[in-house]
Amino acid sequence: MDILIIGGGIIGLSVAVALAKSQKQVGIIDGGFTGMATTAAAGMLAPGAEQLPPGPMRDFCQASLKRYPAWIEELEHTTGQSTGYWPCGILAPADTPEPGHHTGIWIDRQELEHQQPGLGEQFVGAWWYPDNGQVDNRRLTHVLRQAAQSLGVQFFAQETVVQIVQAQGRISHLMTHQTAHHAEHYILATGAWTHKLLNLPVYPRKGQMLALQIPPSAPRLQHVIFGPAYLVPRQDGHLIIGATSEDVGFQDGVTASGLHTLLQKAMATYPLLQNWPVVETWWGYRPLTPDECPILGPSPWPNLTFATGHYRNGILLAPITAEVISNYLNGNTWPETLNFCRWERFGTNVELL
Ligand code: GLY
Repeated sequence: MDILIIGGGIIGLSVAVALAKSQKQVGIIDGGFTGMATTAAAGMLAPGAEQLPPGPMRDFCQASLKRYPAWIEELEHTTGQSTGYWPCGILAPADTPEPGHHTGIWIDRQELEHQQPGLGEQFVGAWWYPDNGQVDNRRLTHVLRQAAQSLGVQFFAQETVVQIVQAQGRISHLMTHQTAHHAEHYILATGAWTHKLLNLPVYPRKGQMLALQIPPSAPRLQHVIFGPAYLVPRQDGHLIIGATSEDVGFQDGVTASGLHTLLQKAMATYPLLQNWPVVETWWGYRPLTPDECPILGPSPWPNLTFATGHYRNGILLAPITAEVISNYLNGNTWPETLNFCRWERFGTNVELL
């Protein structure tokens, strides 16, 4: 095996597909974790609406957004399946026209009413991001798995890596509960579970979510609405509502107060939804780092590469993460412009657990 990827979330899968396309023999070890951000996410592609401050992280997110159409087209062509990618634009309604870190086009209440009738009366207008959008992250995950399989990626789906083992300054193998796995190179794409294997500063940040069924008679929601809660209308008639942001560690399950908060915010954003049926509730864990930027690239071991800690932007950053990690593993030096993602910025030693 050339490369073993620890973690089969959207980052592990995207990297696997990119590397398998460059003729590498790739394996993914992931027995699955409850609450993976990959399937819990709403799939927003929202570098603007997320109000990232100016700087390399915002540029990186914008660059990934640009890659989405071609990346999706190739995946859908390879698999013959839809990802639900929808560059529908995002409206961020606001109760003040103060921009903060907003970079969108300001539209006043009259124009907002025209573009999206029915939003809460407290909003004086909205920031409009015509190039932001969404993808159905669960479908995309399925499509990525199919693409990876068709490219010969080997899945170890019943196993969980419990230890990364080093010898003479290199990674010698991975231990799962079942067996040892060897490869030339290893990639760590373990998201919120990263600290189970080594002491990188990646922590779970819980989000609770729910989905409503949009009645066929309801006015069509044509954009993502990024208000106090975000509302993501899927083309299959579901409305995804998110999300809480809770510093509670791994605490599985939805709570009464979590759902209450979400529904209150959602109803204030778009009052019409109050009578729509709830079809699903769930939760997940965002992989948070201290500066909210991912940890990518070289590690202290020459044959281990990091691709973790994407926090709120893992779905958005999948195409560019796959590209930069695969370029690096194909012999290119790590670009200086991406030094803001290197683990050394935290100034601590990294040790295997
Ligand atoms: N990207 C939205 C969230 O993390 O809630």
